[in-house]
Amino acid sequence: MPPNEQTPLIQTVLISPPRPRYTHSTIRRFCTIALGTTLVVIVILFLIPGRWLPGNRSESEWAPLRHPWSSWPERAQFSYDDLRKVLLDTPNEEKARQWSQYYTAGPHLAGKNLSQAIWTREKWQEFGVQSSIVDYDIYINYPVGHRLALLEKKSKSKTESAEEEQEDVIGMMKYKVKYECSLEEDVLDEDPTSGLDNRIPTFHGYSASGNATAQYVYVNFGTYEDYEDLVRANISLKGNIALVKYGKIFRGLKVKRAQELGMVGVVIYTDPQEDGEMTEENGYKTYPNGPARNPSSVQRGSTQFLSVAPGDPTTPGYPSKPGVPRQDPHHSIPSIPSLPISYKDALPLLKALNGHGPKASDFNKYWQGGGLGYKGVQYNIGPSPSGLVLNLVNEQEYITTPLWNVIGIINGTLQDEVIVLGNHRDAWIAGGAGDPNSGSACLNEVIRSFGEALKQGWKPLRTIVFASWDGEEYGLIGSTEWVEEYIPWLSKSAVAYLNLDAGTRGPNFDAAASPLLNKALYEATSLIQSPNQTIPGQTVRDLWDGHIRTMGSGSDFTAFQDFAGIPSLDMGFASGPDSPVYHYHSNYDSFAWMDKFGDVGWHYHVAITKVWAVLAAALVETPIIALNATDYATGLDTYLHSVKKLSTTAFPSVADSPILDSLESAIARLYNASITFDAKAADLADIINSGVPWWRWWRKAQLYYQVRQVNDRYKYLERNFLHKEGLDGRSWFKHVVFAPGLWTGYAGATFPGLVEAVDRKDREGVERWSKIIEKNIDDATESLK
Ligand SMILES: *[C@@H]1O[C@H](CO)[C@@H](O)[C@H](O)[C@H]1NC(C)=O
Ligand SMILES: *[C@@H]1O[C@H](CO)[C@@H](O)[C@H](O)[C@H]1NC(C)=O
Ligand SMILES: *[C@@H]1O[C@H](CO)[C@@H](O)[C@H](O)[C@H]1NC(C)=O
Ligand SMILES: *[C@@H]1O[C@H](CO)[C@@H](O)[C@H](O)[C@H]1NC(C)=O
Ligand SMILES: *[C@@H]1O[C@H](CO)[C@@H](O)[C@H](O)[C@H]1NC(C)=O
Ligand SMILES: *[C@@H]1O[C@H](CO)[C@@H](O)[C@H](O)[C@H]1NC(C)=O
Ligand SMILES: *[C@@H]1O[C@H](CO)[C@@H](O)[C@H](O)[C@H]1NC(C)=O
Ligand SMILES: [Zn+2]
Repeated sequence: MPPNEQTPLIQTVLISPPRPRYTHSTIRRFCTIALGTTLVVIVILFLIPGRWLPGNRSESEWAPLRHPWSSWPERAQFSYDDLRKVLLDTPNEEKARQWSQYYTAGPHLAGKNLSQAIWTREKWQEFGVQSSIVDYDIYINYPVGHRLALLEKKSKSKTESAEEEQEDVIGMMKYKVKYECSLEEDVLDEDPTSGLDNRIPTFHGYSASGNATAQYVYVNFGTYEDYEDLVRANISLKGNIALVKYGKIFRGLKVKRAQELGMVGVVIYTDPQEDGEMTEENGYKTYPNGPARNPSSVQRGSTQFLSVAPGDPTTPGYPSKPGVPRQDPHHSIPSIPSLPISYKDALPLLKALNGHGPKASDFNKYWQGGGLGYKGVQYNIGPSPSGLVLNLVNEQEYITTPLWNVIGIINGTLQDEVIVLGNHRDAWIAGGAGDPNSGSACLNEVIRSFGEALKQGWKPLRTIVFASWDGEEYGLIGSTEWVEEYIPWLSKSAVAYLNLDAGTRGPNFDAAASPLLNKALYEATSLIQSPNQTIPGQTVRDLWDGHIRTMGSGSDFTAFQDFAGIPSLDMGFASGPDSPVYHYHSNYDSFAWMDKFGDVGWHYHVAITKVWAVLAAALVETPIIALNATDYATGLDTYLHSVKKLSTTAFPSVADSPILDSLESAIARLYNASITFDAKAADLADIINSGVPWWRWWRKAQLYYQVRQVNDRYKYLERNFLHKEGLDGRSWFKHVVFAPGLWTGYAGATFPGLVEAVDRKDREGVERWSKIIEKNIDDATESLK
């Protein structure tokens, strides 16, 4: 019954669904829900992630909105272009020269010059970068005394007047002193550093104290193969002293092999053979009158067994903090004494070998070409006759003492993406204008430039850490101990390490890098004008052949690259065969030499400063981290081919077997994944660069998370190549792709575990290492998916 006008309203029972009282209510309810949801989404997307972001700057809550990329209007107050302009405009020659002059004014051997560390920290603070000194207690040696003399047994028949010649009694023997080495570099009026009262004696870092008198043998460059050649030729080595040329391999490894063969001491001299065109023999005047080597120059240096483990030899793998347990250092430092000498001091020793034993020229090609033939040296191998001996005395003080790194930090908005720039400060000599303080002068200019940008309102996207290392020369100590201490944080946060050691020694740009950084390096060098404007407008890249060496060791990148798996790079302007001879680790690596020969006008200092700063800026500021995975895969493929080539001669049964094939397909899979991944990253970068309007906040938030994900993968890619147990017999080295060559030191070995197994003709080792490396590569491939 339909209700009529008498039906009481109150009793009305509606049994049909209620009809909308007014038509807008659906829309309103929808709007309420939508608004509520939106608010929740906003809270989730912006406020909560804001909390996750490191740092306590209030605006970081809005990081996804504010961020980051220059084309987004929120960031326009100080754009990437503005930053680059400051980095190109700020560094200057006068300042670089001034910093160099400071660092090279007095001795700064590892652990011996706290005031330079304090000065450096204060400068960085002045530039606007928060800095502190980080110290370690390290085991180290300082020189006390030395002697090297050529002695001849007195013949009883002759009755010479003893007053006329020096004589020497060693044990029961009476000797005539044929030549007493000066073991000193000449003091030059033109070069005040060479005459400082507190100049540093000639000696070797980590060499053993000792007093040896023995016959001696000329062992060429003292490479592993050189010693093998001598053993094959039945040259008696045991009990004798090695006279060896600098060059080809790291000096500590020359001593290591001599020690293993039972030799009792090592004398290392600088042969002008290594000086290219710029020799006295070719008519060039010697320093300070010309560009050729000063005959009295001596190369100091470390004799640590660098390819076994760098860092404090008493604390392998952990930081040298006060009170930590200390181990016997002799797994990575020598037990026999050694001394470095000049070619002037070496001449009488070499000439005394004339006519004794075979000639070097009768040996293979690696033995040809000594540079002192014009002085009458015939390069006989010896040994010296039994009556003709060397007395080698080396007296070293070994102590445990502090050294001081200086660490500066500019906090970025992202504190878990960190770029580290480093250079060492310590030198073997009072000078060190090339090694390392050309790099130190540049580091100050880089920091001054970034400081300038900060003053103008720049807010870095990523965090930058600057390091002035101490103790590099003895064995990369400051950097190694620091990486060992901060490894948990570095593993989580570090994106790249950029090293500059001797930033300037000549005009030839030179670099070594993890392939991930190749593209970034090519780009940075293309942006900087070369100081050589013979062809107007030519850049550093234009004058460089583009060859990037693989990472070995010999500078502070080692712990970052080989121990922590952080993509690293090392670069500088080196000297070439036509440039003035660089007096490496000698008193003549001085301010005076740099000013007059090395970098006249200081333009190369400024050029490398700009390359470094612009490269760092690219890594710090571009939204997608400027690494390239494809180049890494390509690199691996190249390295594998060289292993295959090596095994065809060294171990044919492996070369002919399919052992290495599965490694090849693993690399192919990584290559494919890398291409896809790099393309995805490039697409993201395009979207960011073309800009997303502010009102498409959802898209922006989504982009932000995609970018973070891609960047994490780039950041961690190289970590996949670490093998926890390390390499055979040198477990400190964790990287399966890069390590210093076991018997070269400086030069990089690729796939070291595999290559060493091939060298040993160890089939089990080849199989084991193939599997290990394949697993690492597969992990890397997975990480990109
Ligand atoms: C430390 O370095 C400064 C600057 O190069 C120098 O003047 C000073 O003599 C050095 N100090 C010592 C103790 O060698
Ligand atoms: C080196 O040892 C010999 C004995 O073999 C000794 O006569 C000489 O004085 C020692 N030299 C030094 C500097 O200790
Ligand atoms: C080295 O000595 C061994 C054994 O004394 C001899 O058989 C060999 O022929 C020698 N080699 C050379 C190159 O003199
Ligand atoms: C950088 O961040 C760290 C850790 O959050 C903080 O301790 C430090 O004071 C910050 N430095 C500056 C200069 O803001
Ligand atoms: C300077 O540049 C010219 C032209 O590229 C080149 O031929 C020359 O070798 C360069 N000189 C040096 C010292 O780099
Ligand atoms: C990465 O390198 C590959 C090979 O060199 C190149 O084709 C690609 O464009 C690069 N990608 C990026 C994002 O640089
Ligand atoms: C790599 O990609 C190419 C083309 O997409 C494909 O033909 C090839 O089989 C892939 N290789 C591997 C090892 O996945
Ligand atoms: Zn150096």
